[in-house]
Amino acid sequence: MNPQASALNEVLEAQNPAVYSLLSKRGKAIFFPKKGLVMQGKDASGKRINASIGMATEDDGSPLRLAAIESLVNMPPEKVFPYAPSYGLLPLRQKWQSIIRSKNPSLGDTELTMPVVTNALTHGLSMAGYMFLDEGDTVILPDYYWGNYNLVFKNAYLADFDTYPMYKEGGFNLEGLKEKLMAPGTKKVVLLNFPNNPTGYTPTDAEMKGIRDVILEAAEAGKNIAVLIDDAYFGLVFEEGVATESIFASLADLHQNVLAVKVDGATKEDYVWGFRVGFITFSWKGMTAEAGQTLVDKVAGAVRGNISNDSILSQNLLLTAYDNPGYADDKKGKYALMKSRYDLVKKTIASHPEYSEYFDAIPYNSGYFMCVELKKGNAEDVRQKLLADYDTGIIALGSLIRVAYSSLPAAYIEELFNNIYSACKDLD
Ligand SMILES: Cc1ncc(COP(=O)(O)O)c(C=O)c1O
Repeated sequence: MNPQASALNEVLEAQNPAVYSLLSKRGKAIFFPKKGLVMQGKDASGKRINASIGMATEDDGSPLRLAAIESLVNMPPEKVFPYAPSYGLLPLRQKWQSIIRSKNPSLGDTELTMPVVTNALTHGLSMAGYMFLDEGDTVILPDYYWGNYNLVFKNAYLADFDTYPMYKEGGFNLEGLKEKLMAPGTKKVVLLNFPNNPTGYTPTDAEMKGIRDVILEAAEAGKNIAVLIDDAYFGLVFEEGVATESIFASLADLHQNVLAVKVDGATKEDYVWGFRVGFITFSWKGMTAEAGQTLVDKVAGAVRGNISNDSILSQNLLLTAYDNPGYADDKKGKYALMKSRYDLVKKTIASHPEYSEYFDAIPYNSGYFMCVELKKGNAEDVRQKLLADYDTGIIALGSLIRVAYSSLPAAYIEELFNNIYSACKDLD
């Protein structure tokens, strides 16, 4: 074990053995090299003669650059061309932490780590896997989940999934989660994703409290729990009574055996899918800045060894946008557009009772998606029919059809559902 990793481990283990025990072998071994190339480059910055960094400069010291690229971006070259730190740009990390607090006011002044920048959420989830999953470890999650978790956690880290039915009596299945948490074994890794992909479901305020209580009960029973919180669609809640704060806010200060890992980012929240800017943030009850920093250094080391660092251009575009006076209103306008599509989906389903001969919507209230469950046949046959005869594309998931109404102009919404209905009828 590298002595720099051991030094981080000693701090964490002394301050919170439960959280330390959640680290994977890789998570224990990783560290951010304090004496390596990056640090030597830092030492050299500002020196008259600096021959330390693997970048190239013009004779005036600015980034060496091609006009064909520079002319496309209306930002100073220093914000476009150089490497970013592996941790991410500090002002962006600080901004994002303050955004997390303002969007989740119940966090109050709970100690959070400074978010580390990842190559958007997929990479943030992968870094969480790196830190907390060994071969054969189990991830507890609902049966409806984003398909890419298979590649992220099973293929990459050889983890297993233990799923529970997401719904019970039309709401979130708290008992299902509890049963998995209370099953034998001390280390528990739980994955929560609200608004959920594919279902578009976010628990109600009462259900969120229930999730918190179930996790607390398990922690009090001696379980050590890492809760990986995929907040990809955070902020897009369209119904009253549905939780508008992340479950992270309820877990960050819950129990010293509960490590809350928030994976979030600009991808869906700020409609910048190709920018690839995400964040990973940690908290547990009683976390000190020093102990939190051990996880920050470890995850930044994992980023360094994996993608080196994330696009400085994307990070600076976002940082600049967050300070634009029009940002908040613009964002409200886009929320209103997404909500209008959601409302139209609800209205369409409600005004077509004939649909229920072939399918019903499963609970949804948020995010980009909703699903209908077929009463007969399988969704792949319907999908093929829709492609062949109705000029219509949907996603088929077993007996579910996932509809991304986020990308449907209002004029197509009723037609889409009518097409699904007709395709089902054709196949009957
Ligand atoms: C639930 C969920 N998590 C994470 C992601 C990945 O987001 P990103 O594009 O930021 O990697 C997606 C994208 O579809 C998603 O649906």
